[in-house]
Amino acid sequence: MKPYLLAAISVSFFTAPLAVHAGEAPAVLLQLECASCHALTKPENTSLDRLWERKGPDLYYAGSKFNKDWLVKWLQDPTKIRPAGEFYRKHVKPGAKEDVVDEPSLTIHPKLTTKDAEAAADALMTLTGPEGLIEKGAFKNQKVVPSMGTMYFNKLRGCSACHMTAPGKGGLSGPEMATAGARLQPDFIYSYIKDPQKIDKGIWMPKLDISDADLQKLTSYIVQLSAKEDKK
Ligand code: HEC
Ligand code: HEC
Repeated sequence: MKPYLLAAISVSFFTAPLAVHAGEAPAVLLQLECASCHALTKPENTSLDRLWERKGPDLYYAGSKFNKDWLVKWLQDPTKIRPAGEFYRKHVKPGAKEDVVDEPSLTIHPKLTTKDAEAAADALMTLTGPEGLIEKGAFKNQKVVPSMGTMYFNKLRGCSACHMTAPGKGGLSGPEMATAGARLQPDFIYSYIKDPQKIDKGIWMPKLDISDADLQKLTSYIVQLSAKEDKK
């Protein structure tokens, strides 16, 4: 470990008044505990090899992606988001009928104390990524009839081939959608569906030609799914 990092931590955590170093300690926490698996700055290498070899999703645009309340909770008690982890092809094996997840091969996510989770969430929310990455204000928050949303998601657009809308219902190669509304900012959901590769270069989610009206419906459906989950 580099000596100046040690000095920074011991000073801000144990001796100096926090105000003097406010903002510095959380960033150091991310560097020390998270950077080994997550990109905290935009990587220069955007090759497929990097995408397949990375140990965790990129976090350099976390502030444009996540809801802070969700971050604080999840970092203390991480649940599975990608059913087959990162990268899914390394964690599936052939089953009797179809591929199944090789559970023991999945990474167990570090758990943070409440104080560290709050500090990490604060630091993550400052990482907003490149200008214009997501369309701010794109989501108009119009409700969608759930059966209509389900039909769009499952049938018309084939999203369920890769995403679960409830545990065990849907594909394994993308993040689950049952809690995505709590996890993600609606404008991020909208922007991701519109152009996945603009946000995560080389990602295997297809870019479809979807009208604004349909993007609104799909986004609403995902936001509503999570609200339903909260009431359980
Ligand atoms: C050993 C590697 C590893 C370390 C260290 C690690 N993570 Fe992760 N992280 C992962 C993996 C793998 C996932 C994907 C989990 C999933 O999809 O179920 C993940 C997911 C996340 C997510 C959700 C990302 C998304 O796009 O869905 C956040 C936020 C996160 N980690 C924050 C952190 C923070 C903050 C730290 C440091 C305190 C940290 N991680 C340390 C491997 C790691
Ligand atoms: C071929 C598989 C595939 C299909 C089909 C697919 N996706 Fe995805 N989707 C992915 C992958 C892979 C990711 C990003 C994985 C990551 O961040 O590690 C993703 C990410 C997302 C995200 C962001 C989630 C997050 O937690 O970061 C949303 C929202 C989303 N997809 C919605 C949809 C919708 C709506 C459709 C149908 C129009 C769809 N997807 C079709 C594979 C797919």
